[in-house]
Amino acid sequence: MARKRVAVLISGRGSNMVALIEAAKQQSYPAEISLVISNEPEATGLVHAQSAGIATAAVDHRPFGKDRAAFERALHILLDDRKIEIVCLAGFMRLLTSWLVEQWSARMLNIHPALLPAFKGLDTHARAIAAGAKQHGATVHFVVPEMDSGPIVAQGAVPVLAADTEAALAARVLAVEHKIYPLALKLVAEGRVQIRDGQCVIDGIIRPNGVAPDFQ
Ligand code: GAR
Repeated sequence: MARKRVAVLISGRGSNMVALIEAAKQQSYPAEISLVISNEPEATGLVHAQSAGIATAAVDHRPFGKDRAAFERALHILLDDRKIEIVCLAGFMRLLTSWLVEQWSARMLNIHPALLPAFKGLDTHARAIAAGAKQHGATVHFVVPEMDSGPIVAQGAVPVLAADTEAALAARVLAVEHKIYPLALKLVAEGRVQIRDGQCVIDGIIRPNGVAPDFQ
């Protein structure tokens, strides 16, 4: 079966993007990373993508000012031109309007550094520590108009340790992110994930919390 053409949207260092690129180096992986787009022209992730031989584009949001619709049309045209089939948001720090989300309905994934539905939004690690959470982690989910919501494809948990700093916890979670994003994209690209009543059905089984990192 043809490999799915994937675009990864980033804003910064792009370590999740690198994890996806690494996974896609295997010929048996069902997706290829065809394009990396950043809204930050100076994002270090763009350099990593270029050195991996992947096409990149910078679509700076600033010249669009408050016109989010025009910024998103520019993104959408690029994705369409390159015949992208699945979009992966990976540390892409712009909120998307429901227009773009609906163009990519059931074809756009996001990774969030928390065990959704807990800790939506920013500063998730500091908030998990402050709340005394015993467990924390990361989630890959389909993007829906409501922020950090949407059917969950994969989730990986880590313990929160008594001595944890925000940086220590972030590093533990990031290691999990790098496992669950390639896993989630694989499942979606293989057509093994359906959405029913706002939840993922994976290999025919309803999985409200998605699958765990060691799922095959
Ligand atoms: C990751 O931890 C990702 O989960 C988070 O940004 C980081 C990007 O790192 N995303 C969000 O917070 C989205 N709201 P990376 O650029 O090294 O992949």
